[in-house]
Amino acid sequence: MTFLNNNTETRAWSRRRTCAMWWRCAWLAAAALILSGCDMLDMYDQPKYRTFEACDFFADGSSARPVVPGSIARGQLREDEAFFTGRRDGQLIDELPPGNDLELGEALLERGQQRFDIFCSNCHGQAGYGDGMIVQRGFRRPPSFHTDRLRNVPLGHFFDVMTSGFGAMPTYNLQVDPRDRWAIAAYVRALQLSQNARLDDVPVDDRHLLEEQP
Ligand code: HEC
Repeated sequence: MTFLNNNTETRAWSRRRTCAMWWRCAWLAAAALILSGCDMLDMYDQPKYRTFEACDFFADGSSARPVVPGSIARGQLREDEAFFTGRRDGQLIDELPPGNDLELGEALLERGQQRFDIFCSNCHGQAGYGDGMIVQRGFRRPPSFHTDRLRNVPLGHFFDVMTSGFGAMPTYNLQVDPRDRWAIAAYVRALQLSQNARLDDVPVDDRHLLEEQP
């Protein structure tokens, strides 16, 4: 009995050893293949320029080539002048650019309010008087939105100021996409109306509510 047992164990053990040997051979063969694959090293060492490396092939000495004039990256064709610049034929527009899903309504104004509070109120103040926290800490004070001049500028002016910057004010064209810039512009107009409402703006049926106020 003991003898048989030992014999079975010995056979199983030797089978395992053979199997391990085969694996070792396979690994060695694979390693040899990889190491002899000089082509791969060639690809690594091929002639190439690293970022910003100088080169004497091009007249300007730079290996980085400028974009061919007139190239437009996919998705960046900006044909709609009014939507992207706030101007039509170079003149500021005084309306939301038609199309582009920009419909004046509660949703647009709410979006504008949210974006204004995030991006503009820190300087302009939540009501647009130019008394935001950054100004209280010493930054140049922007003009109040509630002046006759700014009440009478075309809507496109607000869009243009955000898109291109204005004096000490930085541009917001990278942080705020065009649709949101229009939402903010519409909201700035709403802010202006809110601080300069006349009795005529209140529906006749509701005027008595105002007259009842002290
Ligand atoms: C870092 C502070 C700061 C932030 C944030 C800021 N502004 Fe201004 N803004 C200014 C200053 C300062 C001026 C006045 C610039 C000047 O006259 O040099 C100004 C001017 C303006 C004007 C008036 C331009 C004119 O015709 O006089 C408008 C409109 C305006 N900002 C809109 C916005 C909107 C909308 C946002 C948010 C997207 C915004 N600003 C964010 C600082 C800021």
